Amino acid sequence: MPRISLAAAAAAAAVVGSASAFPTWLSARDGYNGTTNSSTISDYTQLPPSPDLSWTPCFERFQCANLEVPLDYEEDVGTTNVAFIKLSGGDGEGQDILFNPGGPGASGVTTLLTGLGDDILKNFGGNYNLISFDPRGVNNSGPYPFSCFPTREARDQYALSSTPPSASLQVQYATAKALGEYCTETNRDKNVKYGGTLAVVQDMMHFHKLSTTLKGGDGDTEPIWYYGTSYGTVIGQTLAAAYPDRIGRVIVDGNVYGKQYYEGYITNDVDDSDQTFAFFFQYCFEAGPARCRFAGNSSSAHAIELRYLSLIQKLEDEPLIVTDTGLPQIITRYAFQNWAFNEMYQPMTGFPKVAYVAADLEQGNATSYLRATTKQTKSEESVATQPKFDEGASQEALGLITCVDANTRYPFSNFTAYEAAYKRTSRESLYAGDILGRGNLVMCAGFGVVPPASQLFTWPEQVITTAAPVLFIGNTGDPITPVSSALRMSPYFAGSAVLTQDSPGHCSLTSKSACTTGYIQNYLATGALPEPGTICEIDVKPFQDQPAARRH
Ligand SMILES: *[C@@H]1O[C@H](CO)[C@@H](O)[C@H](O)[C@H]1NC(C)=O
Ligand SMILES: *[C@@H]1O[C@H](CO)[C@@H](O)[C@H](O)[C@H]1NC(C)=O
Ligand SMILES: *[C@@H]1O[C@H](CO)[C@@H](O)[C@H](O)[C@H]1NC(C)=O
Ligand SMILES: *[C@@H]1O[C@H](CO)[C@@H](O)[C@H](O)[C@H]1NC(C)=O
Ligand SMILES: *[C@@H]1O[C@H](CO)[C@@H](O)[C@H](O)[C@H]1NC(C)=O
Ligand SMILES: *[C@@H]1O[C@H](CO)[C@@H](O)[C@H](O)[C@H]1NC(C)=O
Repeated sequence: MPRISLAAAAAAAAVVGSASAFPTWLSARDGYNGTTNSSTISDYTQLPPSPDLSWTPCFERFQCANLEVPLDYEEDVGTTNVAFIKLSGGDGEGQDILFNPGGPGASGVTTLLTGLGDDILKNFGGNYNLISFDPRGVNNSGPYPFSCFPTREARDQYALSSTPPSASLQVQYATAKALGEYCTETNRDKNVKYGGTLAVVQDMMHFHKLSTTLKGGDGDTEPIWYYGTSYGTVIGQTLAAAYPDRIGRVIVDGNVYGKQYYEGYITNDVDDSDQTFAFFFQYCFEAGPARCRFAGNSSSAHAIELRYLSLIQKLEDEPLIVTDTGLPQIITRYAFQNWAFNEMYQPMTGFPKVAYVAADLEQGNATSYLRATTKQTKSEESVATQPKFDEGASQEALGLITCVDANTRYPFSNFTAYEAAYKRTSRESLYAGDILGRGNLVMCAGFGVVPPASQLFTWPEQVITTAAPVLFIGNTGDPITPVSSALRMSPYFAGSAVLTQDSPGHCSLTSKSACTTGYIQNYLATGALPEPGTICEIDVKPFQDQPAARRH
């Protein structure tokens, strides 16, 4: 779910993202075999924004709508557009479920195009359609531009010259603050302030009204169904808090501590990151050296952890020098840890990759690390068709949306306060504290953009009674959205429940679990929640349930 610092975002460097969750156990891409159908549109620019909702066949097997929405639902200050995409399941006539994958800054449109929607619908069973969208500021949705910088070139130029994540804390804080203050100036009366989460929720309700009316239903009463992962849980929690009497079903999976998110900084994001690594060492030990390359002769999971810690120490003492591939470079402790942390989001693919790369780095061999971290050089053709919303823009959106939601409530207003918080965070997690402390923790320093009155959101003090109960889901080893956030948010919603999945990885769907799937399907079909304290095991584990170690 969440995030990275604006500075680091602009540099497209460290990603302490909660980004979106892409499962790996699925991979049966039902229905799509790559056949192109040129009679459908494949670009939202071919769909002029319209205040009326209408669906157009797109991307061969989806339906697209480009909805014109007011920038502000209470004051006439112009309009923007929100891109929706629909994947029909069952007979196409069933219940619609809105979905957001996270970020903030992740594109719902892209997420469905990659096939994740098929996996989600399969997981849900039943007769449902999945509708996702690019929230304001993201990819195909306005307002444009949604940036601190006047042009993309300026942003790229800034990124190239910006501070490395290994700079001193003073430099890190000052860099973030400079960008925050600059961004506040460049966006004083501009678009960014219209990009907060409550505005996104208002867009969803607006869409839901039009969509229900289009089907002949009552747009003012029909309940809304929603599924959100990672930062998408902030959207779900906000939806349920702002429109409690309209809730049909809400599943929030991989939760952010939403109340704190709206107070400017979340203190518990990396509470379980070390637990993710504990799973990594344990699974590696259980699988043994044939399946986990980093297991070696180790006599326990603890011995593997010690081996891993000495690798980190070695990189700290002496960054690995690489001179035989293009320009000279070094691999630092920070770079390796940041990469490994992100791989932990997806245990099925990430665990074997980290084990393989760590074993190589231990030998002073950087080949597999470079292969894993270097982006493929784009062919000339793909450069020509490169989307305007690139990685840098996505990460910038992450910071902007988060900091608009923080609404000047960011609590570390001077270096001393930041440094104390950095130390606390570093103590919380051996493997992720420093990364978060140099990323998300400084993200909103100096940022003073304030949303318009109709889009201000403060977490309500009182318990909220929703028309149907909310289902929270959390993993015991989620590196960025700990189950403790679900446990902290659930009491704000009367009758809600927390389903715990005993697994590593970001959001439940990164592991296969018939148990979790069963509870989700039952909730969707009947509204019934699992008993309090229910814990689901997973069916497939990394390493041991996978083919023997391969090259990575
Ligand atoms: C792919 O899908 C198209 C359209 O449904 C179909 O005509 C074609 O036979 C399929 N190809 C394969 C290899 O399945
Ligand atoms: C291509 O899309 C059009 C418009 O939705 C549809 O009528 C047609 O059946 C599709 N053709 C194939 C081969 O999928
Ligand atoms: C296992 O231990 C033996 C004896 O200490 C050592 O020679 C060998 O290199 C070790 N193998 C691995 C894979 O670490
Ligand atoms: C370095 O690692 C790569 C990938 O694992 C391997 O193919 C290569 O042989 C290794 N190089 C040396 C010198 O061991
Ligand atoms: C934005 O959406 C388009 C489809 O409209 C997709 O091709 C592109 O990859 C998306 N960009 C990102 C960064 O998600
Ligand atoms: C720094 O900020 C903290 C918390 O806002 C405040 O208590 C403290 O007085 C500030 N210190 C300085 C030197 O301004």
